[in-house]
Amino acid sequence: MNRTRRLRVSENIRRLVRETKLSIDDFVYPIFVEEGTGVEKDIESMPGIKRYSIDRLSKELDEVVACNIPAVLLFGIPTDKDDVGAETWSDHGIIQKAVRFIKENYPSLYVITDVCFCEYTSHGHCGVLDHDDVDNDATLINIAKQAISHAKAGADMVAPSGMMDGTVETIRTNLDEAGYTKVAIMGYSVKYASAFYGPFRDAADSAPSFGDRKTYQMDPANRTEGLLRARHEDAEGVDILMVKPALSYLDLISDLKQNFDKPIACYNVSGEYAMVKAAAEKGWIDGEKVMLESLLSMKRAGADIIISYFAKEVAKLI
Ligand code: PBG
Repeated sequence: MNRTRRLRVSENIRRLVRETKLSIDDFVYPIFVEEGTGVEKDIESMPGIKRYSIDRLSKELDEVVACNIPAVLLFGIPTDKDDVGAETWSDHGIIQKAVRFIKENYPSLYVITDVCFCEYTSHGHCGVLDHDDVDNDATLINIAKQAISHAKAGADMVAPSGMMDGTVETIRTNLDEAGYTKVAIMGYSVKYASAFYGPFRDAADSAPSFGDRKTYQMDPANRTEGLLRARHEDAEGVDILMVKPALSYLDLISDLKQNFDKPIACYNVSGEYAMVKAAAEKGWIDGEKVMLESLLSMKRAGADIIISYFAKEVAKLI
């Protein structure tokens, strides 16, 4: 009889045949940086995650370095918003200041910046509005300015999350022309219009003030379109392809891994984090085990890199 149980009889043989392992080398930790001083604010729907002003950031960064997490992904929360999100390309913007602070004090930490507008626009959409929709090509002009400004501040990699067509090509061309040939691009290649972003929008004050993001983010029903969009970004010169959210889109992670010769990242988003935390708090699941199992499933599906609010917790367990 074929007996697969033979290789499950003890922990040591299970260790020998284990196909997938989590390593802290694969994790990116997102950090919310807020304008002001003395800010260290809990985010209610994301227990354990906080918003920090730059003067309080060291506490968080010391932990990240102690956990041996290789990279952080920065999201900014400005004081003032406007129609177009002009602060995103200012030398004195919150992200630019945070990047300079990190590069001065933690030079070895790899810094990725979110390139988007929704935290900075008065309407909460991810670009320039034309009536009630985001104008793709007008937004590209501002995306280029923002990406260059982040690179100038010292960012190692930019991650444009706004889902405008042509984003990667625009950023690559502009970065190269400005001499930032070593600054890499992680594309939000396959990003869905997902309800799993709920807690993040509270955390970053970035909920749209009207409508939704369905004209720019993808329909959760579509798989082939994800592959098409990843092909576009691949051809435009993206360095790393990302799938977001992660847990409900493992098929896309697997598709991308099989179809491209570039590293695949996935974003274990705020709603995925909040669900585990809430159920664990109620005592309905073992939070640690569910966390590890779900992160493992992303790796098994093909993710080379996992962006996760769990990164510090994982570091302590593996
Ligand atoms: C901004 C952005 C969002 C997230 C990352 N960048 C929210 C959105 O698209 O509405 C979500 C991250 C998360 O939920 O953890 N464009």
